[in-house]
Amino acid sequence: KRPYDALMPLPKAELHLHIEGTLEPELAFRLAERNGVRLPYADTEELRAAYRFEDLQSFLDLYYELMAVLRTERDFADLADAYLARAAAQGVRHAEIFFDPQAHLARGVAMDTVVEGLWRALGSSERNHGVSTRLIMCFLRDESAESALRTLEAARSHLDRITGVGLDSAEVGHPPVKFRAVYEAAAALGLRRVAHAGEEGPPEYIAEALDVLGAERIDHGLRCLEDPALVERLVRERIPLTLCPLSNVRLRAVDALTEHPLPALLDAGLMCTVNSDDPAYFGGYVGDTFDAVREALGLTEDRLRELARNSFLASFLEDDEERRGR
Ligand code: ADE
Ligand code: ZN
Repeated sequence: KRPYDALMPLPKAELHLHIEGTLEPELAFRLAERNGVRLPYADTEELRAAYRFEDLQSFLDLYYELMAVLRTERDFADLADAYLARAAAQGVRHAEIFFDPQAHLARGVAMDTVVEGLWRALGSSERNHGVSTRLIMCFLRDESAESALRTLEAARSHLDRITGVGLDSAEVGHPPVKFRAVYEAAAALGLRRVAHAGEEGPPEYIAEALDVLGAERIDHGLRCLEDPALVERLVRERIPLTLCPLSNVRLRAVDALTEHPLPALLDAGLMCTVNSDDPAYFGGYVGDTFDAVREALGLTEDRLRELARNSFLASFLEDDEERRGR
């Protein structure tokens, strides 16, 4: 088999990528040693063996646990630089990168440490890797609305580094409406808005993310297929979906990659993009993901090019108003 994206990498933008989800076991152990943090795993092999997930929550438990090794600016810089190097090697030319400040603030790591650390890598990424970047600060939806507001306040002095806000973590039981006030405040500060919706949560959460939060893209959005009127709306309003097929398989949102509804979503006329979500945990970076969906779903070269083109159209590189012809 000749991997299409490895042989002739399509230029791509990655729009759904949690930087903490790029923490490979080798780096986790290196940082643990550097910072004198004890991990409850003997070695990288034992840690990798723990990457068997039942659902989103079982993944999140490990994802938050491993963050303990991230302590200093240098740690965040090393993490982001390792991701950017890997992404560049797979044809990524632009990356809009999520981070979860509340998970770090709760461990006593300052906002300044996180943002300036990430920025050390992002600020030199065009020069070092040929990858332009944006930073999107996510609120943890299983934390309170007040905590999200405090987090936005803590980011106020870093807004020159932050392009937008997002919403992630455990979805079910935490509807978008809970975050109305913080999204209004973010919009007033000129921040772009995205939100995870319809990964494990119902299609209603997708509509709510659009109507209540003013989300400009939907992260995942997989479950829109359960509501034909919603699909029609997403097509009409050209709302991009940042799909993550390998994540959906690992977190059991779909039974197998061959069953992934990506072809149906494309056929419906939705603006789909393909992304890696948490590549250290889900078995592949974005080029690997292109290869995997091509192989499992038999996507044509035209379809793959459409996905790559969509990733730039759906990005925040160009002015949104202009893109939608408003
Ligand atoms: N945080 C990291 N990855 C996530 C995902 N796939 N869904 C929700 N929150 C996340
Ligand atoms: Zn995600």
